[in-house]
Amino acid sequence: MTYGHRPVMLDEVARLIDAGPGATYVDATVGYGGHAERLAELAGLSGRVIGIDRDAQALEAARRRLSGFGGVVTLVRRRFSEIDAVAREEGVTRVDGVLFDLGVSSPQLSSDERGFSFRGSSRLDMRMDPSQGPTAGELVNELDEAELSRILREFGEEKWASRIASFIVEARRREVIDSTERLVEIIKAAVPASARRGDQHPGRRVFQALRIAVNDELSELRTALEKVPKLLRGGGRVVVISYHSLEDRIVKSGFRQAERGCRCPPDFPECRCGGRPTLRVLTKRPVVPEPSEVAGNPRARSARLRAAEKVEVEGP
Ligand SMILES: C[S@@+](CC[C@H](N)C(=O)[O-])C[C@H]1O[C@@H](n2cnc3c(N)ncnc32)[C@H](O)[C@@H]1O
Repeated sequence: MTYGHRPVMLDEVARLIDAGPGATYVDATVGYGGHAERLAELAGLSGRVIGIDRDAQALEAARRRLSGFGGVVTLVRRRFSEIDAVAREEGVTRVDGVLFDLGVSSPQLSSDERGFSFRGSSRLDMRMDPSQGPTAGELVNELDEAELSRILREFGEEKWASRIASFIVEARRREVIDSTERLVEIIKAAVPASARRGDQHPGRRVFQALRIAVNDELSELRTALEKVPKLLRGGGRVVVISYHSLEDRIVKSGFRQAERGCRCPPDFPECRCGGRPTLRVLTKRPVVPEPSEVAGNPRARSARLRAAEKVEVEGP
């Protein structure tokens, strides 16, 4: 059964997180529970899986899927930037593995109410946790043009950011832009014909940018990655699957920084900060899905997996 969302690179995740009996894992993006199910199977009755998600609908689906594991699985509705607090509240000080499978799930994307997709028409929302924060509609209708343009450029790497921002501001003088369909029409009017004819949907980058801004996705990721080494036992593993270059860059540089330890500027003759390496990178290059997986699950196409291991602490 797929539960509406197929977990990406399931075997690679299990191999790289080194899943086994009696282990404790945090699945920081439990979603529809596909990866968590595999981790719980491998951890067995003496193991533990703590699943975090900020989306109540996803958690409800995960709860149904994982109910057969009883007390092995605990589900928590939180942001993963609070991963340390969640572990503490669950009475866990060190874990064997942490998984992040970033972004949104297929049911979130295909929902008619959530506003994540540039296909179809729904309210411009895009909040993973609909009880918190501004909606995409509020950003589109209220931000000033310069800020809107910055978001589209920085979070969407959108070449036509300033033109699209100016078309949005012009359109909202006459109307409230309240649907994904209307936003797509405005984007299409703003970009040149050549950009409308490319293989990618002209709204893809704008929707990515708004989703990142609405959910504060990049700072969530930076904060969580900083906290992970402290949570892992020596030899424990962290695995991250990202779906666009902005996320992948944060993971790559976060892992590198943890591997280096020292935070002194490169022109310092010797280390003054005393920072020690906390992680060893296991994937010099990102792992990508097999073509057969991509053929069966187009969502896997852009997936990049990176993994690292907690460096054993020396000394008594
Ligand atoms: C790609 S899906 C995970 C799918 C899951 N691995 C599975 O097998 O079903 C990503 C999930 O992470 C959640 N998420 C994204 N950012 C989050 C954050 N900062 N804190 C908590 N959950 C987050 C989303 O709500 C979504 O359910």
